[in-house]
Amino acid sequence: MALVSLNETRLADHVDRLGLEHPPIDLASVDYSVRRPDLFNARYGHVLDYMARVELEVDRNVVELTTLLPDPPEIDRRFYAEVWQPQEIRHGQILDELQVQLGRPAAEPDLTSLGAKMKILGALAHLDPFQDVCRMLYYLTGMATERSAVLAYNLLHDGVVEMGESAVAQTVIAPIRRQEPGHYAFYQLSARGLWSQLAAWQRWMVRRMRSLSFAPVGANNAQQTADFGDMLATLRIDQDVDNFAGQISRVERELLWAHKRGLKVPPYVAKAFREAVELAQVRRAA
Ligand SMILES: [Fe+2]
Ligand SMILES: [Fe+2]
Repeated sequence: MALVSLNETRLADHVDRLGLEHPPIDLASVDYSVRRPDLFNARYGHVLDYMARVELEVDRNVVELTTLLPDPPEIDRRFYAEVWQPQEIRHGQILDELQVQLGRPAAEPDLTSLGAKMKILGALAHLDPFQDVCRMLYYLTGMATERSAVLAYNLLHDGVVEMGESAVAQTVIAPIRRQEPGHYAFYQLSARGLWSQLAAWQRWMVRRMRSLSFAPVGANNAQQTADFGDMLATLRIDQDVDNFAGQISRVERELLWAHKRGLKVPPYVAKAFREAVELAQVRRAA
């Protein structure tokens, strides 16, 4: 019991601190000036579009969340209402404005459609014993998503600096990437806390359902999966995709697959990333 309440206290402190230290980025602080717009667009335009869409889709994530967690713990509700959603929406607005200023069409986020998987999970979530299974799946998705964001924004930042586009690096990418580790930490703390409370059958269920439902962030159909693969290629992640897959699933492997000694990356994660890289290659060749 003590362990549970210690974790709850840490989570509450974490959410308080994020709220205080990381207000949504002030739009007035952003400088969209780009020295060589054509070159910048050719290299990173599609990455901005992918990221803007995923960030703006936070509003659908909130719908998914309320479907998955009909009765969420108060701390989850506070995190997404006070910290997560306001920050992510702003990330999306800024990235989208940047791509529009580069002459690209605005992102087309899907804010409403709930996939079949989500509907099934949502129905299960109303059965009490499945609540925590669904919550665990939700935290695992959050962890992988936020860790992907941390790594991708780091690489994007380096690339933008390398191109000499310092206004965008300093006032767009740097402030956004500064907010992602706090999101990751929230989901990681939540996942560790909940995993320790799950019964053996619930853990088994989580492993099964996660293996069946894993997808890279924002990749909900073949076209988006290829877009994701393109982004990996631009950020040069495609050359060592297993390493990236390993990094975004490190804690997941540690929790869910602790009994599988020697496993470096959960196979469904490695497979999904390799498929995205391949799909993008095939599309480019066509
Ligand atoms: Fe974000
Ligand atoms: Fe985030």
